[in-house]
Amino acid sequence: KNAPPEVPYWIPYLGSAIAFSVNPIGFYEDNRKKYGDVFTYTMVGRKFTVCLGIEGNNFVFNAKLVDVSAEESYTPLTTPVFGKGVVYDCPNHMLMEQKKFVKWGMSNDAFRAYVSEIEEETRSYFQRWDNKVGGKGDLFTAMGELIINTASRTLMGPEIRGLMDESVAQLYHDLDDGFQPINMFFEWLPLPSYFRRDTAHRKMRDIFMKVIEERRANNITDKTDMLQSLMNQTYKDGTPFSDVDACHLMIALLMAGQHTSSTTATWALLFLAQEPQLVKDMLAEQKDVLGSADASLTFDALKNMTLLDNVIRETLRLRPPIIMILRKVLRPLNYTGTDYVIPKGHYLAASPIATQVDEKYYKDAYKFDPRRWESIVEEDSGETVDFGFGKIAGGGARNPNLPFGAGRHRCIGESFAYVQLKTLISTFLRMYELELTEKGMPGSDFTKMFVQPELPVEINYKPRK
Ligand code: HEM
Repeated sequence: KNAPPEVPYWIPYLGSAIAFSVNPIGFYEDNRKKYGDVFTYTMVGRKFTVCLGIEGNNFVFNAKLVDVSAEESYTPLTTPVFGKGVVYDCPNHMLMEQKKFVKWGMSNDAFRAYVSEIEEETRSYFQRWDNKVGGKGDLFTAMGELIINTASRTLMGPEIRGLMDESVAQLYHDLDDGFQPINMFFEWLPLPSYFRRDTAHRKMRDIFMKVIEERRANNITDKTDMLQSLMNQTYKDGTPFSDVDACHLMIALLMAGQHTSSTTATWALLFLAQEPQLVKDMLAEQKDVLGSADASLTFDALKNMTLLDNVIRETLRLRPPIIMILRKVLRPLNYTGTDYVIPKGHYLAASPIATQVDEKYYKDAYKFDPRRWESIVEEDSGETVDFGFGKIAGGGARNPNLPFGAGRHRCIGESFAYVQLKTLISTFLRMYELELTEKGMPGSDFTKMFVQPELPVEINYKPRK
């Protein structure tokens, strides 16, 4: 039995870290030609074995708990930010139950209330862009602020939204600075950003805690937001999900949904800025579904906007914010169908973007073409797997398009993200005409935890008549 082939490197310790962070997709493509779908590379003293292709995705996403651990890969990064006892700072079966608690807070009834709140937030945010002639707007900043405002107004609750313009926004930034690749590799460094991160974590937890205590003291039970739903949970074995746990999980949700959704909104609008005809068709779809061009959006109407849906799906195919999913190997692991044995201690990596831009599955794979989804029937084997937080079709891991992952760690926020993005994008398109600036389409910055466009991202806008 052999270890998988290894990418040679010339800088000790650092290994391929620079080549990888400049262009991970090119790095994978080049090495895949040389070594096949499975190979090992070194970064900052650690060994990563990537498994590409749909079989590679399936191998990583559906690996057994005895063989691999997500907790061991992510905890140095996530636990100081989220806090103890949740997500990757607890056994996997507890995370599965936490995901079930979260799912209860993402019901269609909750979403019905969220749509008008997100529409209102979007309109009020862009008052600052409003003038008769238009101009140049900072799209990336706008999307970041809008996503945090709308997520806090809906999921986090009105009390947190009320604090968003002052204290919480700054705390969020300090937490975010502690959520970078460097934190994963050098958890022991005494950097000032780590102290700021730890202080921000404590203050954020205290803010959520105060809201919980006030709601309890005033017997407030009529809220439909996530915080309320997390305040009343108990694990299957009878252990209560404590208020501190609820605060920590709220911070985790805030962090998980922020860059993922705000970069997706930014990329979607950048793509649309180059497609005036497509935008016209999207406005026609709104009119068609709602009966008039300026009727308020509703959750049920958004569900019927398939072109809008396909714009988001296509954006996530080409620009998924998460391009590397990691699991630590707990015991030597044979790669199915080969004689490779991946050693204990390696990080097992999946990179679904490789299949998402593969010509084998998508014609003109690098072209933004939302209408391609009209003729793609996403494969569903009919088989379902229950990981404890709701059934997932077939484990889902052999679909070439996996921006939300698959298997037991699959994203829990997809439906919320779609509601948020659909409301925001359709409201935005009603308000403005868009064009790229003379700088054109930005490239991708892969040095961040979540891939984002290279900054600054500006857009030319004109208020729509
Ligand atoms: C997990 C992507 C939005 C909460 C994941 C994973 C991916 C992903 C790829 C799998 C990670 C892994 O297997 O290691 C995205 C994208 C989003 C998005 C592309 C938006 C466009 C959200 C939102 C929330 C959220 C809005 C919450 C409000 C979570 C949670 C997990 C997760 C709780 C589970 C982690 C686990 O079980 O290990 N997401 N996400 N995500 N996401 Fe999302």
